[in-house]
Amino acid sequence: MALLKPPILCLVLLSLVFCCSTSAMHSMYSSHGPNKGAYWPSWSKDFPPSAIDTTLFTHAYYAFLTPNNITFKFDVDYPTALSLKNFTTTLHKKKPFIKTLFSVGGAAEGPKIFSRMALSHDTRKSFILSTIEVARKFDFDGIDLDWEFPQTPMDMVNFRHLLHEWRLTVKKEAKSTGRPQLLLSAATYYKPVVTLDDVYRKYPVASINKNLDWINAMCYDYHGSWNLTATGAQAALYDPNSNVSTSDGLQSWIKSKIQREKLVMGLPLYGRTWQLKDPSLYGIGAPAIDVGPGDKGQMSYADVEKFNAKNNAKVVFDLPTISVYSFAGTSWIGYDDARSVKLKIEYAKTLNIGGYFFWSVDGDQDSKISRQASETWII
Ligand SMILES: *[C@@H]1O[C@H](CO)[C@@H](O)[C@H](O)[C@H]1NC(C)=O
Ligand SMILES: *[C@@H]1O[C@H](CO)[C@@H](O)[C@H](O)[C@H]1NC(C)=O
Ligand SMILES: *[C@@H]1O[C@H](CO)[C@@H](O)[C@H](O)[C@H]1NC(C)=O
Ligand SMILES: *[C@@H]1O[C@H](CO)[C@@H](O)[C@H](O)[C@H]1NC(C)=O
Repeated sequence: MALLKPPILCLVLLSLVFCCSTSAMHSMYSSHGPNKGAYWPSWSKDFPPSAIDTTLFTHAYYAFLTPNNITFKFDVDYPTALSLKNFTTTLHKKKPFIKTLFSVGGAAEGPKIFSRMALSHDTRKSFILSTIEVARKFDFDGIDLDWEFPQTPMDMVNFRHLLHEWRLTVKKEAKSTGRPQLLLSAATYYKPVVTLDDVYRKYPVASINKNLDWINAMCYDYHGSWNLTATGAQAALYDPNSNVSTSDGLQSWIKSKIQREKLVMGLPLYGRTWQLKDPSLYGIGAPAIDVGPGDKGQMSYADVEKFNAKNNAKVVFDLPTISVYSFAGTSWIGYDDARSVKLKIEYAKTLNIGGYFFWSVDGDQDSKISRQASETWII
């Protein structure tokens, strides 16, 4: 300490003050306030970071970065560097202040790269050090891992090693730099056992409790273009005919002993579409023959609203599933609106879980759903 020159000492003092105030803020969020997250797709053309209303969220995620598939380090090119810096600068300038994380991976990236990265201590170490370097360089508050999804029991073991080593390294870095510890989160399957195929694998819940700040359970994509035989509520809160639902997913996480405040419920700001076989059979589970309007059977909430208005679609609130669908002719769209989101959040509150997040914020152009969500869960 005695060796520090005055300007540096000043900086250290400043950062201590900063560190105390932000960590107080953080503990305020985690012990009293819900985690209200928004993923921002960096490729969105008509929704700049400045469009994120920080009065409605506590955390915003930059989607996505991908490490190099051989070194497992991030090679950030110049346009990406600009975009990362722009994201954190824009959001940190806003009032109220919200935390920023960058998310690694995503559905399009797939699972293979993470499976290889997590395989050995050395590759995990390269990845971990690079995530911290990127976070600090571009002024993020944390890192979110979006490995969709671990495919084998071995992947889950390696995932556990990764979380353990990641937390140790982040702790060490915070201690040696005097900066607040980086937040670590992960986007996961909607329930603790991944049931996409016959290979049994379960997330390492004890390690999640110990090493992650929270998980974003992706409570959507229960039905979609991979099964065109019938319409479906892609993010049903309840399903009278199966266990594939948000209530079952969240309850399963709780049964597997995740700390409730670390469980964050996913909400989709997009719908999934089908083409009905017969326009007079239009309920949930009605026979279908193809994808409906949108991009390969997917449509943002903003576009669903436009579609409904333009085609004078009939909109139905489905009470058994707590979801909404609309249809016009043979075009059918299942989605969430402000009302279904409100009921889901009320359900999440009764479970006493950590909060909710949206994929993705650009689907709610006028923040109608996000505002309803935020007002539904006030401390
Ligand atoms: C930076 O952010 C502003 C405000 O959100 C946006 O209008 C602009 O396009 C962004 N620039 C880059 C390079 O991402
Ligand atoms: C790594 O990425 C490159 C470029 O996308 C690809 O050609 C190559 O096959 C990948 N290597 C592995 C091991 O996946
Ligand atoms: C497709 O969805 C329908 C209705 O949800 C279901 O009965 C059927 O088993 C599904 N088919 C496959 C191959 O998953
Ligand atoms: C749903 O889960 C319950 C409890 O875990 C189980 O008893 C029941 O058989 C499951 N139902 C279906 C349709 O899978």
